[in-house]
Amino acid sequence: MKVFINKRIPEAGIKMLKEAGMDVIIPENDQLSHEEWINYCKDTDTILNVGTHSFDKDFFNECPNVQAIALYSVGFDHVDIQEATRRNIPVGNTPDVLSKATSDVAFLLMQSVARRASYNYGKVKEGNWGDFDPLHALGQELYGKTLGIFGLGRIGFEMAKKSLKAFDMNIIYHNRHHNEEAERELNAQYVSFDELIRQSDVLSIHASFIPEHTELFNRSVFEKMKPDAIFINTARGGFHHQGDLYEALVSREIWGAGLDVTNPEPIVKDDPILELSSVCVLPHIGSATVEARNGMAKSAAENIIAFSKGEKMPHCANP
Ligand code: DGY
Repeated sequence: MKVFINKRIPEAGIKMLKEAGMDVIIPENDQLSHEEWINYCKDTDTILNVGTHSFDKDFFNECPNVQAIALYSVGFDHVDIQEATRRNIPVGNTPDVLSKATSDVAFLLMQSVARRASYNYGKVKEGNWGDFDPLHALGQELYGKTLGIFGLGRIGFEMAKKSLKAFDMNIIYHNRHHNEEAERELNAQYVSFDELIRQSDVLSIHASFIPEHTELFNRSVFEKMKPDAIFINTARGGFHHQGDLYEALVSREIWGAGLDVTNPEPIVKDDPILELSSVCVLPHIGSATVEARNGMAKSAAENIIAFSKGEKMPHCANP
């Protein structure tokens, strides 16, 4: 079986595929144009895909030989799952292995914003350490505050667990379903969406992105949030309206924002949000640890190997 991998992934995954007898194709140039990428896909039966290429109807029409797709990501919002399912094409993803790493970044952003870390680091880099000033650049403490989680799955659970342990935070959440484990172990309380946005001191998004969520966090949400609230997005940039977020920060409707994902992504260099002292932006590094990326490589390889044996992928996004 031929497996096309568009970008080099950790060796552990490649080794598993080769040991399973697969013909692994990784182009020398890993910055393929869309056309080059499509040409590789046309010529393969199995794809291990790194990145957010769109697997839509056009793709499936153009690449009729593709029989299975293993994503190197937990998110599958760039895949038309319904169309893949209709064509009997399994789509694998990589949950679990990156939950700790991604929630670490949400936790990091929460603290960075609370203590104005990027603003203060910027001052040091500019050679502007400044005098000790009792009133300047004061942060806020997180102890005993309320953390609101939008989407309490695996990553949200890890974020809530860390925040409870470190800062004794009170956990509230809004989700499609009740998360009984979180209610039992973290004393998390299920609330309506409206209660979530009104009561959170820190609001952190951990849901899977679906089109209905596009820019759900917009002006009408920010204006209901507490003036000292911190907004954290490590899920998908499409969840928030970036212009409205900027306005909410400038007009002090909310206190700060930590973003590992932006809208659009990548963020443009002159986006005014980057100038704000109340903001910390990272370039989508949620899963960027050696451990998580190795885990993702192995998990994607396991999905392909299961498919090659005629078995169900262990992590399959199709219903
Ligand atoms: C994921 O795994 O979904 C990460 O966000 C990388 O795309």
